[in-house]
Amino acid sequence: MNRTKSVFLAIAILCIVVSQVNCQSNDDTTTKPEKPKEKISVKDSKLCSKCHCNLETYLLDCSEKLQDLLSAEEWEVLINGDVVFKTINLEHNNITSIPILPKYDVENLYLANNQIDSITEGAFQNLTELTTLDLSHNRITSKVLVPDVFKGPYSEHDFSALEKLKTLNLGYNDLHTLDADLFEHIPNIEELVLCSNAFHVIDRLSETAISGLSSLKTLDVSYMEIDDLPETILHGPRDLETLIAAGNLFHQLPKALSRATNLTSLVLNQNPIDSLIEDNVFPPLTKLTHLSMTFMTKLYKIGPGAFSELQGLTELILSDNKLLNEIDEEALSKNVTLGPYLDYPPLEKVYLNNCNLTSLPKNLLVRWDKLKALDLRYNPWNCDDSNDYLINVLIEQVNKTTPILAKNVQCATPTTLKDVEVVRVANEHLMESSSGSIIWVGLLVILLIAVPTIAGAYVMKRRNCFGVFRRNDSVARSALYNRTSFNEDFHI
Ligand SMILES: *[C@@H]1O[C@H](CO)[C@@H](O)[C@H](O)[C@H]1NC(C)=O
Ligand SMILES: *[C@@H]1O[C@H](CO)[C@@H](O)[C@H](O)[C@H]1NC(C)=O
Ligand SMILES: *[C@@H]1O[C@H](CO)[C@@H](O)[C@H](O)[C@H]1NC(C)=O
Ligand SMILES: *[C@@H]1O[C@H](CO)[C@@H](O)[C@H](O)[C@H]1NC(C)=O
Ligand SMILES: *[C@@H]1O[C@H](CO)[C@@H](O)[C@H](O)[C@H]1NC(C)=O
Ligand SMILES: *[C@@H]1O[C@H](CO)[C@@H](O)[C@H](O)[C@H]1NC(C)=O
Repeated sequence: MNRTKSVFLAIAILCIVVSQVNCQSNDDTTTKPEKPKEKISVKDSKLCSKCHCNLETYLLDCSEKLQDLLSAEEWEVLINGDVVFKTINLEHNNITSIPILPKYDVENLYLANNQIDSITEGAFQNLTELTTLDLSHNRITSKVLVPDVFKGPYSEHDFSALEKLKTLNLGYNDLHTLDADLFEHIPNIEELVLCSNAFHVIDRLSETAISGLSSLKTLDVSYMEIDDLPETILHGPRDLETLIAAGNLFHQLPKALSRATNLTSLVLNQNPIDSLIEDNVFPPLTKLTHLSMTFMTKLYKIGPGAFSELQGLTELILSDNKLLNEIDEEALSKNVTLGPYLDYPPLEKVYLNNCNLTSLPKNLLVRWDKLKALDLRYNPWNCDDSNDYLINVLIEQVNKTTPILAKNVQCATPTTLKDVEVVRVANEHLMESSSGSIIWVGLLVILLIAVPTIAGAYVMKRRNCFGVFRRNDSVARSALYNRTSFNEDFHI
């Protein structure tokens, strides 16, 4: 009897204690630590055996691992999990549509390389920490991409903005225009990628959308099949630093560039601009440090003043312009003080490889010695003394600082020096001794016709023209490998 009584008492006490604990844990005002809600161990979850979970970088990588978006159970694991992934990669998963996603504090969401062709309005409203959204390589059309797709969480009486979104990649989709208000819910975009959408023309609506992005720092409008930029498109983005407009149909430099006064980096590769002369030269962009114009299949001439207003340039990339034959010696200089000296940009890296250049004028850039990299490879250099500075000074300097860039800088002319490395020409005294040898050859021909006499032969000998002919035989070639005989033959 006694025993039953005491057991009963014990249970009763236990019940009171338990109920008190329960009570306390439900009471927010007590100072006792709250019993944490049971968290799911993400690391041990099915999701992390299916996808790759990196708990050090807070990366959930489900690229190629799903057939669609995360399932409801998988979201449950994430939402109730013991880690919050900052980056979720859902690329290559054949996702076709984006519903309203659940509340989660992901910062970077990668949805590239799916087949997304529909996005529910407000799809990202619960992702209030989102800073980067990559929707590239999908099938998003202009019709689907309405402003409300990006609307933020509903608070009080209205939808607020997705204020933290900074980077939006819409590249490689089926867009051809943007809604004028497309960015109304994401006003703080700093990086916008629109590349490889066949716009053909940036119409007024798209222009309104883009020019309203006052925080924009990077804009990629490459491969959009456009032949110009609207003149005022860069009015709004006053802080724009990087503009990438490669692979378009620009025949001229876009006039809009003159507004981009804060630009530091500009890429205009693969545009059919044929020359930078007269009016078609760069406007003043004093902060521009990096300019790239490569694979310009029509560019043959860079005229005087082409880059004169870019007095901040440190890197100039003009490689792979197969027709580029002429860079005027006044292309870079600027007569600032109207005095006896010209100003030049503080270039550190100049890439002129794989063009059609035959000579490099010394005055193009006075402080050649300040260059850290000068790539002159794979051009048909002329190795007579019209190219004296390159042969006798510059190439030596290149060989000293970056030997790798001295290789494959070869002569194309004269034929006696064809394929000889320029760096050897000065060192081994291979250069043509007289300038304008072609004129002398011409003269010689006339003389040969007009005065086929001993007198004619005498003149030829005096002007050292025999040398010209004799160099055409194999002697010159073998001379490279046998300096003694070379020197004997030419009395050097
Ligand atoms: C997506 O679809 C393609 C073609 O149907 C298929 O080969 C591929 O495995 C699918 N990808 C995934 C991640 O399911
Ligand atoms: C996401 O947002 C919608 C609309 O604000 C809301 O109805 C829904 O409950 C949210 N979902 C989650 C899981 O928070
Ligand atoms: C360049 O950027 C600075 C700093 O953001 C800004 O104050 C200035 O207005 C910009 N200049 C122009 C011409 O837009
Ligand atoms: C390269 O320039 C030379 C003139 O120096 C010109 O004759 C030649 O056609 C050009 N080559 C190409 C591929 O344009
Ligand atoms: C700069 O311009 C002034 C005035 O046109 C001229 O007198 C001066 O020679 C020029 N300087 C150079 C180095 O060309
Ligand atoms: C280029 O420089 C290397 C040392 O870096 C030197 O050995 C070589 O002789 C130089 N080449 C010529 C042709 O001067």
